Amino acid sequence: MSVHTGKFAAVTGAGSGNGKAIAETLLEEGASVALIDIAPDSLAEITDKYPAAIAVEGNVADAASVRKAAAQIQEQFGRLDILVNNAGIVRGTNFEELSVEEWDQVFAVNSTGPFLMSQAAMPLLKAGAEARGEKATAAIVNITSVEAHIVISSSGHPQIHYNASKGALLQLTRALAVECASSRVRVNAVAPGFIETPFTKAVLGNQDVLNWLLERTPMGRVGQPEDVANAVSFLSSEKSSWVTGSTLFVDGGWTVY
Ligand SMILES: NC(=O)c1ccc[n+]([C@@H]2O[C@H](COP(=O)([O-])OP(=O)(O)OC[C@H]3O[C@@H](n4cnc5c(N)ncnc54)[C@H](O)[C@@H]3O)[C@@H](O)[C@H]2O)c1
Repeated sequence: MSVHTGKFAAVTGAGSGNGKAIAETLLEEGASVALIDIAPDSLAEITDKYPAAIAVEGNVADAASVRKAAAQIQEQFGRLDILVNNAGIVRGTNFEELSVEEWDQVFAVNSTGPFLMSQAAMPLLKAGAEARGEKATAAIVNITSVEAHIVISSSGHPQIHYNASKGALLQLTRALAVECASSRVRVNAVAPGFIETPFTKAVLGNQDVLNWLLERTPMGRVGQPEDVANAVSFLSSEKSSWVTGSTLFVDGGWTVY
């Protein structure tokens, strides 16, 4: 029996990068997984490979779309044990040229999205904790970033709205952890450093930036989506049953250096 056998999970932004690796790891470890993405075509590769995966088209920034996704999960799974708020976007615009529309767009996906998803999923998560026994916990894992804690200005990518939106998600994680503790729903964050995904393709494709990044990282390599997925697996499992409101950094030592 694997660590997540018999559990039901939902992963947002499951069609690419970190979300795809998180979904595949949870599937490999025994969970049934609802793959939520605004680009549903990206999910076929996973549903073709794993019969326990279901595709759910959904935009986390849109309340009606989130409600519809939660209703589909309720109908197909009946409960949830794990919710991973992974969907996120980054835009690079200098502060003085940054429009309020772009600011709102980044916050809508990175901060409001996890709020909407967590709220819509809460009855399902409470049911998940109940269903697995009186000591069991359900888990929300929010994918924040080292940039919720520090500012990486030398990468040449101005993104104060990204920093601010991830900071909001960090504090949402802590506040919700307190709010939901008595329901046995734990809420934690994984804060990745630079991970090799389509999201970072342009940055990592620049040799100068890559060299700087490798020198700046104590462990001397870029992260892989599996590094993030393994941290999510731990925070979703009963091995972390007394961990809530925490952040697990997955950054090769970047933040402490
Ligand atoms: N890659 C990194 O270096 C890195 C570092 C720190 C944090 N993160 C965080 O990890 C998460 C995933 O990043 P990634 O690198 O895998 O990105 P990615 O661009 O490869 O994948 C993002 C996925 O989210 C989906 N998505 C985007 N907007 C959505 C919406 N409104 N509703 C539903 N789905 C939506 C996309 O279709 C895509 O499948 C993000 O929250 C990002 O901020 C990434």
